[in-house]
Amino acid sequence: MSTIELSTIELMLKNLNGALKSRKLYPAGHPGILQPLEKAYQILIESLKIRQKIFIGKMKDVIVFEDNPIIDSIKNLGEVLLQMDRKALEGIIFEKGLSKLEWTNFFEILSLDAELKGQELQKAVSAKGIKYITLKSLPFGKRNIVEVYNNAIDIVKDAFAEVRAGRIPKTENVAGIVNEITDHVLEDHNAMIGLTMIKNYDDYLFNHSVNVGILSVSIGKTMGCSKEKLFALGIGGFLHDIGKTGVTEDIIRKPGGLSSEEWEKVKLHPVMGSKIIERMENINKIVPQIVFEHHIRYDHSGYPTKDGELNPLSMIITIADAYDALTTLRVYQKPYPPASAIKIMQNLSGKHFDPDTLKIFVNMFGVYPVGTMVRLRTNEVGIVIKVEQKYSDKPVVKLLFDSNGIKIDKPFDVDLTKYARGNGLQIVSPVDPIIKDIDVGSFMMQEAKSPNPQAH
Ligand SMILES: [Fe+2]
Repeated sequence: MSTIELSTIELMLKNLNGALKSRKLYPAGHPGILQPLEKAYQILIESLKIRQKIFIGKMKDVIVFEDNPIIDSIKNLGEVLLQMDRKALEGIIFEKGLSKLEWTNFFEILSLDAELKGQELQKAVSAKGIKYITLKSLPFGKRNIVEVYNNAIDIVKDAFAEVRAGRIPKTENVAGIVNEITDHVLEDHNAMIGLTMIKNYDDYLFNHSVNVGILSVSIGKTMGCSKEKLFALGIGGFLHDIGKTGVTEDIIRKPGGLSSEEWEKVKLHPVMGSKIIERMENINKIVPQIVFEHHIRYDHSGYPTKDGELNPLSMIITIADAYDALTTLRVYQKPYPPASAIKIMQNLSGKHFDPDTLKIFVNMFGVYPVGTMVRLRTNEVGIVIKVEQKYSDKPVVKLLFDSNGIKIDKPFDVDLTKYARGNGLQIVSPVDPIIKDIDVGSFMMQEAKSPNPQAH
């Protein structure tokens, strides 16, 4: 890999520092600001031709580029340090694809004298459409994924309420949480997927929407989608059923047997949804398109009718939508365990689902997906909490019952990749969690709150 000289990054930062200093003296748009800002941007873009990502960190009063401290940071980069302090930032990541407009918008936020931290800061970043710069907050600003998940439900609920009240939802609110969720998925999609096992019967529509968003972003990540596409998948997933706001609650919950008139109404929701999303500000055109297409199957059955190819992202949403619906208790359906849901879906490969995307999804999830209760050959029973794609048949299992079926006081993790076949520690079958009186959703939530780092 080609290297970037420390002095190059130092020069970039000195120019950024100069622009920040000038911003205190001159009004926005003054050449004293624009010139160093432009110079810094040029250096950054050149460096991003060599490296996909550039990480600038702050350790106390020293700026670091990767692991290299920049000498005399206080003297030469005082403004950068000051503003990172005010925003409680421990790092800034610049990525290939960074546009001039994003850079200018980032500068505007960084130069704000106000203390803008945590979620407020993330909101400001999303509102400005900044996707190729990630601001890493100090740990106290970081939220636990359960908090993020619950906040996502609230935000989706608000968006639906806005539409019910006859208004178009604000993009910035949804965008902020989609970015946060995407960051968590990129960091560790297993933990996030675990949370999609939370199924709330009363709040089905909102839980389902958030779950579809998380699952779609996870599939997109595994497929190597760009950040822009992941973002479209997140927003599309969260809002795929927003057109259901036009359908009354009792129709949504009606057990089976809708009248043909009711059914016609339900079938309108993808079209209605895409129309609502089209009217939201700063929304990529792909989003209304995938919402429009989310009930069109691979073989073009389903609804509404459409000639021509489907967007590959729509096929991701269709898979996430079906998986979450199958694994959830509905008025007319008992929940299928994850492994059975996957089998059902595989039988519909090439009919309902795009075979290639489905294959990727199944590989990512493994034979026993996160959230599956399993029995080991030793007769011990536990729940799958992590699946590595390379070893999808050997997940990490949290053991809850010993070989005599007795509940273990302090459940612990077993990493099945560490055991060779034949010595007993392999999965023999899935177990219905109802029989063991375990609510997988609550278990996964607890797990996310206090993950046990020890695996043996
Ligand atoms: Fe739908």
